[in-house]
Amino acid sequence: MARIFSGIQPTGIAHLGNYLGAIRNWVALQEGNEGIYCLVDLHALTVWVDPAALRAQTRTNAALLIACGIDPARSILFNQSAVHAHARLAWIFNCVARFGWLNRMTQFKDKAGKDREAVSTGLFVYPNLMAADILAYHATEVPVGDDQSQHLELANDIAQKFNHDYGVEFFPTITPRIMSASARIMSLRDGSKKMSKSDPSDQSRINLTDNADAIAQKIRRAKTDAEPLPDSVEGLAHRPEAQNLVSIYAVLANQPLAEVLRTHEGKGFGPFKESLTELVESVIRPIAEATRQIEQDTGEIDRILRNGADRAAAIADPIVTEAEKIVGFLQP
Ligand code: TYM
Repeated sequence: MARIFSGIQPTGIAHLGNYLGAIRNWVALQEGNEGIYCLVDLHALTVWVDPAALRAQTRTNAALLIACGIDPARSILFNQSAVHAHARLAWIFNCVARFGWLNRMTQFKDKAGKDREAVSTGLFVYPNLMAADILAYHATEVPVGDDQSQHLELANDIAQKFNHDYGVEFFPTITPRIMSASARIMSLRDGSKKMSKSDPSDQSRINLTDNADAIAQKIRRAKTDAEPLPDSVEGLAHRPEAQNLVSIYAVLANQPLAEVLRTHEGKGFGPFKESLTELVESVIRPIAEATRQIEQDTGEIDRILRNGADRAAAIADPIVTEAEKIVGFLQP
């Protein structure tokens, strides 16, 4: 039995990329493991967010995770700010991680863009907090999409440097669990960009609460090229939009890419998009319906998160207290 930790930012609404790249795997890994799943509201604060929206979206995304199959009776589901161990350990890691390491993070470079001087310092030290999230539980398995792999390498560097600097074997090595077929779902508007909550165009992503009309419209308008679907996987090379749509189909239908192409080769994107729409709808409809229902009872969501936070703190507090002893903090 492994201890699993993963997190999602409660800004915006989780989308198909989050589901296929991460959440689906969280649900599967609940079986036979100890799952700890976190709505990372401290991370959400690194870019200004309206407080009322943050509260509402934390609840909606909690409802969504439950609708996707996270079972709060079995797994621990909570919001990050409710467990203070994360922020306590993150400070220690701010003092362990090197400036140069963070300066090399591609996600920081992408998010900060040309505006480096104006972004929050929280955005810069974001990966230290991520390392703290995982290591506060001594979790070893972390199911994520491909975009998080550099952050997880950094978390291992931090753990190693902490152990080395203090002469201890305290923090374990983290193993990323990345599902190759769906590790990087791309934007529907641009096959070179990942599907993202922060993309200004809602047409670029399928939200897990979208209704049938929205899904049909977004897939109909999804960018493609003029060629028909190829007869082999090699034929998808240099066709990022085609590659993305066929990959989404393959993952949802639980088929290898080659089999999807066997069924659809030579067809134009019109008929293929119709089949894809049906498939996406069949997966999202039950999730969206369950979310709407669960979301109505905010009292119950808050109780679930409170209970999750208590269980999370019971694991993380002693570990972080030990880390504080190791670095020399007095605990009178
Ligand atoms: P976030 O909120 O951006 O995304 C949540 C999860 O979804 C995955 N993901 C994708 N997978 C495939 N295709 C995509 N287009 C796509 N977009 C997102 C992400 O890889 C992620 O697994 N920093 C993290 C949250 C976090 C965390 C952690 C994760 C905070 N602490 C500790 C793991 C462990 C983030 O912003 O995820």
